[in-house]
Amino acid sequence: MNFYELAKHRCSIRSFTDKPVEKEKLEYILEVGRVAPTACNIQPQRIVVVQNLNNIEKIKKAYNTFGSQCVLIICRDERDSLIREFDNKCSGDLDIGIVTDHMMLAAREIGIGSVMVGLFDPRIIRKEFCIPEYILPTALLILGYPKNDFLDANRHLVDRKPISETVMMEKYFG
Ligand SMILES: Cc1cc2nc3c(=O)[nH]c(=O)nc-3n(C[C@H](O)[C@H](O)[C@H](O)COP(=O)(O)O)c2cc1C
Repeated sequence: MNFYELAKHRCSIRSFTDKPVEKEKLEYILEVGRVAPTACNIQPQRIVVVQNLNNIEKIKKAYNTFGSQCVLIICRDERDSLIREFDNKCSGDLDIGIVTDHMMLAAREIGIGSVMVGLFDPRIIRKEFCIPEYILPTALLILGYPKNDFLDANRHLVDRKPISETVMMEKYFG
């Protein structure tokens, strides 16, 4: 698969079998995340790998885990925040998005399904996993073997807006 094909074949999976993600596959996914770019190469990501079923139960209190037996709690270290001086915008969430997307694509390449989750309750995750105040639980990456097939790559013909709706040349219009 070239990169465009890989990108089209990735889809969110929300139903997983109980087959565990093999150690070497998980390590590959984490390694691809490691080489992701971050602002000023500051690498604020801190990732808690959760595979113990008792701990998966703890995550379920914060969000659905869709039957997965492998969840990454992707946090960012607030002490590593890079702030844009003009409007105080922090680049940390962008960094986490890029690291997570790298891992989702790596997972798809090796046949592992994933869904990125932002709508979990961070207070529960913080408490259950003893995460200190300066570490912000930002996303969950739920991984596993899909119960059903990956979605058809052609869905993007209708699932995504056409370029003409999202891209402008030279100046903003509309
Ligand atoms: C930043 C971000 C947060 C997301 N949060 C959730 C979530 O909380 N729950 C969920 O089921 N899916 C979540 N998703 C998955 C999106 O709903 C999904 O990517 C989108 O609908 C496009 O579908 P696709 O991933 O199959 O292409 C999130 C995706 C992103 C990028």
